[in-house]
Amino acid sequence: MNDNSVKAQYEKPAELYDGLRLHQNENTRGCSPRVLEALASLRADQIGFYPPYAAVTAACAGYFGVTTDRVTLVNGLDEGIMAVAVAYLRPEAGSHLVPEAIVPEPAFEIFRFDTAVAGGRVVPVMPNPDFRFAEEEVLAAVTPRTRVVFLTNPNNPTGVPVPFEAIRNIARRVPKEAIVFVDEAYAEFAGRSFIPELPQFPNVIVGRTFSKAFGLAGLRAGALVGASDTLDPARYAIPVYSLNIAAVVALQAALGDPGYVAEYVRQVKESKALLYAACDRLGLTYWPSDANFVLVRVGNRVDAVVDGARARGVYLRNRSSEPGCEGCLRIATGYVDHTRRGIAVIEEVLCGAR
Ligand SMILES: Cc1ncc(COP(=O)(O)O)c(C=O)c1O
Repeated sequence: MNDNSVKAQYEKPAELYDGLRLHQNENTRGCSPRVLEALASLRADQIGFYPPYAAVTAACAGYFGVTTDRVTLVNGLDEGIMAVAVAYLRPEAGSHLVPEAIVPEPAFEIFRFDTAVAGGRVVPVMPNPDFRFAEEEVLAAVTPRTRVVFLTNPNNPTGVPVPFEAIRNIARRVPKEAIVFVDEAYAEFAGRSFIPELPQFPNVIVGRTFSKAFGLAGLRAGALVGASDTLDPARYAIPVYSLNIAAVVALQAALGDPGYVAEYVRQVKESKALLYAACDRLGLTYWPSDANFVLVRVGNRVDAVVDGARARGVYLRNRSSEPGCEGCLRIATGYVDHTRRGIAVIEEVLCGAR
């Protein structure tokens, strides 16, 4: 959808909750037990009042290693991306200029939809065959109309990293009215973040989520991190009480249990090694991933594998329609026991045995 129309809608994956969900990159184990305790101890008055944000914002700022004025909480990073689009991609009243968003493909689809909703135009950049970040092509796509460059590091759906030097070069190249949005939804798994560089790059906003490593996807909590002045236009587009009280207390509890996230990150690493070994056994191409999922090419068997796995209660995501991803599945690599089950089912389906 590059035609600036908002008629096409984001196609949400089907609501499948009765099997092993390896199709939405969630934490397959769920949240820390401390989150459940915090939710269970919510009082009636807390639910009756509008939620306070100072303490949870301070806890987040501490986690990111920044001051509180550089963090804005959002109701899931999805809301943060929409706020960035509304802030930076809305055509100015009376101007004929259509703001452009550069989207290196394959990309998180929400970038396209939010750009169109805001009234901007998507400028897609096609991928290298090996999904290595197409820095030269992205730089060449910058025009005086560029207002946002959407990057995801590590990328979804490939798990491939974006080199920091590429982010720096793009941030130096864009027009002064533009920002570079670095979506770090999977940063905990990669073990690195652009956040420490933000003071040198005030035109970069980093997006973070607590849906993945922290296992809070059902509660909806994320954050935008950046220079206060750069965040301000996005802040104006975020509802004043965007996070509800359940998300607030859950997030504080989750941030207070770093050991839970560390153990999950360890499980993900082990899971990826298991899945790579299975792909090698099965002769399948995959891309080593810095995230909590792996993109695997199964070729023209992709529908059969998705359907076969689904019939066995394992949900996988067909990414074939994304640029460069023909015949590819995206498989979440979470808790090791879950990954073993997923691999067993994929092998069973691919080998046609029962
Ligand atoms: C790259 C990327 N950004 C943002 C999100 C959305 O995060 P949230 O659950 O916080 O809205 C996802 C979720 O899959 C994602 O893959």
